[in-house]
Amino acid sequence: MAEKRKIVVTSALPYANGDIHLGHLVEYIQTDFWVRFQKLRGHECVYVCADDTHGTPVMIRARKEGITPEELIARSHAEHLKDFGDFQIEFDNYYTTNSPENKELSERIFAAMEASGAVTKRSSPQLYCEHCHMFLPDRFVKGVCPKCGAPNQYGDSCDSCGATYGAEELGSPVCTTCGATPVVRDTEHLYFELEPQHDYLEKWIPGHTTSDVSNKLLEWFKEPLRGWCISRDAPYFGFEIPGHPGKFFYVWVDAPIGYIASLKNLGRFDMWNDPEAELYHFIGKDIIRFHCLFWPGMLHAAGFKTPNKVFVHGFLTVNGEKMSKSKGTFVNARTYLNNLPPEALRYYYAAKLGGTTDDMDLNLADFVQRVNSDLVGKITNIASRGGQMLQKRLEGRLGRLDGEGRALVEKCRAAADTIAKHYEDRRFNQVVVEVCRLADAANEYFDRREPWKTVKTDAETTRTTLTAALNAFRMIAIYLKPILPVYAEKAMKLFGETEWTWASLDSTREDCALGAYEYLASRIEPAQVDAMIAAAKVKPGESGEVSHESRASKNKARAGEAAAKPAECSPLKAEIAFPDFEKLDLRVGVVESCEIVPKSSKLLKFVLDAGALGKRTIFSGIRGAYPDPAALVGQEVVFVANLAPRKMSVGVSEGMILFAGEPGKCGGVVSPGSAAGGGTAVT
Ligand code: 2FM
Ligand code: ZN
Repeated sequence: MAEKRKIVVTSALPYANGDIHLGHLVEYIQTDFWVRFQKLRGHECVYVCADDTHGTPVMIRARKEGITPEELIARSHAEHLKDFGDFQIEFDNYYTTNSPENKELSERIFAAMEASGAVTKRSSPQLYCEHCHMFLPDRFVKGVCPKCGAPNQYGDSCDSCGATYGAEELGSPVCTTCGATPVVRDTEHLYFELEPQHDYLEKWIPGHTTSDVSNKLLEWFKEPLRGWCISRDAPYFGFEIPGHPGKFFYVWVDAPIGYIASLKNLGRFDMWNDPEAELYHFIGKDIIRFHCLFWPGMLHAAGFKTPNKVFVHGFLTVNGEKMSKSKGTFVNARTYLNNLPPEALRYYYAAKLGGTTDDMDLNLADFVQRVNSDLVGKITNIASRGGQMLQKRLEGRLGRLDGEGRALVEKCRAAADTIAKHYEDRRFNQVVVEVCRLADAANEYFDRREPWKTVKTDAETTRTTLTAALNAFRMIAIYLKPILPVYAEKAMKLFGETEWTWASLDSTREDCALGAYEYLASRIEPAQVDAMIAAAKVKPGESGEVSHESRASKNKARAGEAAAKPAECSPLKAEIAFPDFEKLDLRVGVVESCEIVPKSSKLLKFVLDAGALGKRTIFSGIRGAYPDPAALVGQEVVFVANLAPRKMSVGVSEGMILFAGEPGKCGGVVSPGSAAGGGTAVT
C-alpha cells in the first residue's frame, strides 16, 4: 500500500437553529464512510465539524423561545452530537463556531484579507426601524412580495412564488419586532473583492471539484467577479469586526473558518497548512458558491492552504419527491432512530451513493426490501447460519480450509483493490455491489455443500464447509467496516480478534475457536417505516414534530402474541430445516376490507394495507370460522409476503394470512390462504 497519508476531512456545519434530518445525514454518513475507510487503510485522517451558530435565524429562534442564543446553541450542540453518535458518525472533533479559536482565526484571516487590499467599503440602502433603532436583517422585516403581491413575506424571498429580492423592494414593509414601518437609510458595508483573484480562481476551480460543478461556476468568469458583502449591522449574533464598530462578520465568513477552528481545538492546527497534508470538504450542491469561490478566495488572500478537493453531493428525495412535512417524509434523525436501526439507513445510503452530484432517492419500499434481502438475507445470513451451526453442533471450533474453501476465500480477497478504489472515489454503491457479489458466492458455496445435511453424518466435512463460509463472511465484514462499524465490531469479536485493518484481509481464521454468535442485523418491517412517517407527519396548523409512540413496536408485540398461541388442535407437519423457515417473509398488515366471495362456501377476500409494500389481495378459506367478515376490518394480521401469487378462479391471491387453531373449534382459526390448499393450521 502507498505511504501513510495525512488527511483532513470536513462536512458542512449544520445550523444550530434546526434539527438534523435524513437530508443532512446523506452528507455526514458518506463523509463518515470515507473517513473510516481512510483510517482502516492506516492513514492519519482527521474528521472535523461543528455547529454553525451565528446569524439572524439563531437570534430569531432564541427570541421566540425566550432564551439566549448561547442557551439555544448549547442545546442544539448536545442534540446534534447525540444524533450523529447514534448514527455511528464519528467525528474527531465536533465543535462550535461560537468559540475563541474561531474568533481569533476569523480576525486573523480577515486582517490578512484586508492587508491584501481585497476588502472595500460601500454604501447601500437598507431598511431601518426608527423604533427599534436598528437596520433590519432580511428576516426581521415582512411585507408584500414585489413580484407576485403575496402579503406577509420575509425580506429575502417569497414563500409563495419563490422570488428572491432585497428587503427594500418589499411593499408596505413592517418591522417584525415592533410592527412599525421602517425607513430606507444608507448603511456602509464591507465587501470582499473577488475580481483581483479572477485568474487565480478560474485556474483553481477545475482542478478542485468535478467537471459538472466547475463548468457551472466558470460561467460566472465570463464577466468581472462581483464583490461579496461580508458584514452585517448590529444587532447580530456573531463576531464584531475589529476596526469596524457595530459591524459583524456575515455568518458565511466565520462558518468555513469554523473548520479550521475545530481542527485547532483538536490540537491539530498544524495539519491545515502542512504541505504534506490533504484537505477535503464534503458539501451539498446548494453551497457550492461558498466553498468553491468565496472560500478558496479568502484562504488564498490570507495565505492559507486551499482544499485539495471539494466533494459535492446532491439532495435527498423520498419516494421520488422533495421531502415534505405534510406527507411525513421530512424525517428528523431522532424520529428515524425511534423507529428503525441506524445500520439500515447507512447500508441503504451506501447502496445508493455513487460520488456524483445527482440527487439520491430514498424509496421506502426499496429501502425495506434491500436491507432485508441483501444486508440481512444475503450477507448476515452467512454468519448466522454458519456461526450458529458451528456453535451448536461442532463445539464452536473453526477447522482448516480445503481447496474449494480456499478458492472462495481467495475470491473474496482478490476484490480488495477494486473495493478500495471504489471507496477512494466515493462510489459506495459499487462497494455494495462487490460485497453482494461475494456474499452470493459464499451462499452458493454454502448451499452446494449442504452442511445442514452433512452435519448429521460427517462433522469434519461440515466444519471445513463452515470454516470457508465464515472466512468469506469475515472478509465481507472487513470490507463493510466503514459502512457498518458497529456491525463489523461484533463480527470481529465473533472471530476472536481485537482489531481489523485493511491488512486483516491477508489472514484467515483457521483452527481456532469462534466467539459467541451475537445478533448482527435484524430485518426491518414496513410497519416500522409507516410508524416513522406517521410520527414525522406535520398536520396543517402544526409546526413541529408530533409526539408519538412507536406503532412498530406495538405491531411487533402483537404479531408476537399471535404467533405465540399454541396450535393445540392441529396435527404437526414434517419438520423443516431452519434455512427453509428463513425463506418466509412474514409481515404485518392491516385488514382494509374483508368480504364473502360469492359462490364459495369457504373463501373470504381480504385486502390488506401492507404499508410500504402497498395493498395485497388475499383469498383465505376461513369463512367457516368468521361468519362476520366485517368484524375483521382494522385487525392486524401476520401474512407471508413472498409467496408466489396464485391464480384462483375468483382472482389472484397475493400471499397467505396466518391464523392459529382449527375452524369452528378453537378460539383462533386456520387459514390455509390460497396457496396452501385447505384446512391445515399454520402458526
Ligand atoms: O448550509 C448550511 O447548512 C451551512 N450551515 C453550512 C456551513 S458549511 C461551512 F462553510 F461552514
Ligand atoms: Zn421595530
